[in-house]
Amino acid sequence: MSTKALILVGGSQRGTRFRPLSLDLPKPLFEVAGHPIIWHCLTALTKIDVKEVFLIGYYDESVFRDFIRDASKEFPQFVIKYLREYQPLGTAGGLYHFRDVIQKGSPKRFFVLNADVCCSFPLKEMLQLSDDREAEAVILGTRVSNEAASNFGCIVSDPGKRVLHYVEKPESHISNLINCGVYLFDSSIIFKIRKAMEVKAKRIASDPLYDPTEEGSSDDVLRLEQDILGPLADEKNFYVYETRDFWRQIKTAGSAVPANALYLQKAYQSGSEDLPAASATIIPPVYIHPTASVDPTAKLGPNVSIGPRAVVGPGARVKESIVLEDAEIKHDACVLYSIVGWGARIGAWARVEGTPISVTQHTTTVLKNGVKVQSVTILAKDCVVHDEIRVQNCVCLPYKELKKDVANEVIM
Ligand code: GTP
Repeated sequence: MSTKALILVGGSQRGTRFRPLSLDLPKPLFEVAGHPIIWHCLTALTKIDVKEVFLIGYYDESVFRDFIRDASKEFPQFVIKYLREYQPLGTAGGLYHFRDVIQKGSPKRFFVLNADVCCSFPLKEMLQLSDDREAEAVILGTRVSNEAASNFGCIVSDPGKRVLHYVEKPESHISNLINCGVYLFDSSIIFKIRKAMEVKAKRIASDPLYDPTEEGSSDDVLRLEQDILGPLADEKNFYVYETRDFWRQIKTAGSAVPANALYLQKAYQSGSEDLPAASATIIPPVYIHPTASVDPTAKLGPNVSIGPRAVVGPGARVKESIVLEDAEIKHDACVLYSIVGWGARIGAWARVEGTPISVTQHTTTVLKNGVKVQSVTILAKDCVVHDEIRVQNCVCLPYKELKKDVANEVIM
């Protein structure tokens, strides 16, 4: 039986950690491994029987229009629609607001995907677990280090994969099995969300300190993680599918670099024809858009994406980086662990670099001289780096021109 899928895309007031890149493009449309972040979600959905996909968010209607037009041609197996919230309703509020659309045709269950995750989306396995246990909900989980766990929703489960407790960002350690932001819900979850809303409305009515102007205070704003998953765990029909494959969140702009690496590695391992073969100047995986121009003496890879109409000059070296549309890297320049923004220009013999960190570390900051800085260097739209200039661990806002060496700075 076919299921539906909802992708939570958020809105312009959120995703602020993705700045400065989200100043020019909404995060869900940012390209990693040659495709918008949400394209990877759609690709995963093609592996299962899904007929309708809803993008739920509070961006303007026009934001996803072109993407939906193109994706509808590329993925004719499903109808894709954007559902706009009239205000940020939280990760569960939108599910309730659009319940009629979601429940139309009486689907037995539906997937909910956070748009800002990068993973192999083992959706078939989640469906199987749901069938085997007649589950009301299945959540995708993964193990992270004990130190990283408290930054996520933490899951305590029994050996039979049943979720016993769920706590969002706990203050003390309870588990290193964390919420990946991918869920499969029985349709009855809508009633649970309504119940949680009623509880919230009652709490508001009896709270003398209630401030209606506070963000998220309205009773139709509900968070899946805090308001729904905890109570669901008490009901004992909630299961976790633990993935041992890759998983990363895409929160900060710098986290697009490990996401790019992971999706490229996956595409390369599956023999994608989009990626060039290894050669003296290509260390796979590398993605080069057909309209990009890369000099045959430039050396690329591993984990590099070169966007439309970008130009990479003779003798340039690019590694672990994303080079966006219309950017130019002049001859003999070196770009490592960086994002080169739309139309940005890097001069000859310049060196733009970040610091390598392992993809299993769920952070994008490093300590430099005792100060926390971004591990990835980001040059936003139309930035210019002059010839022979060195840029290390910097975030550069749009249109900045760098004429002298800089390190560990945000250039505004
Ligand atoms: P933290 O991770 O807790 O810092 O918050 P966040 O706002 O960065 O992300 P969160 O984990 O709350 O959001 C998960 C996904 O839901 C992301 O893809 C968000 O874009 C999306 N999202 C967050 N809030 C809303 C909302 O009010 N409405 C909709 N439709 N999506 C949302």
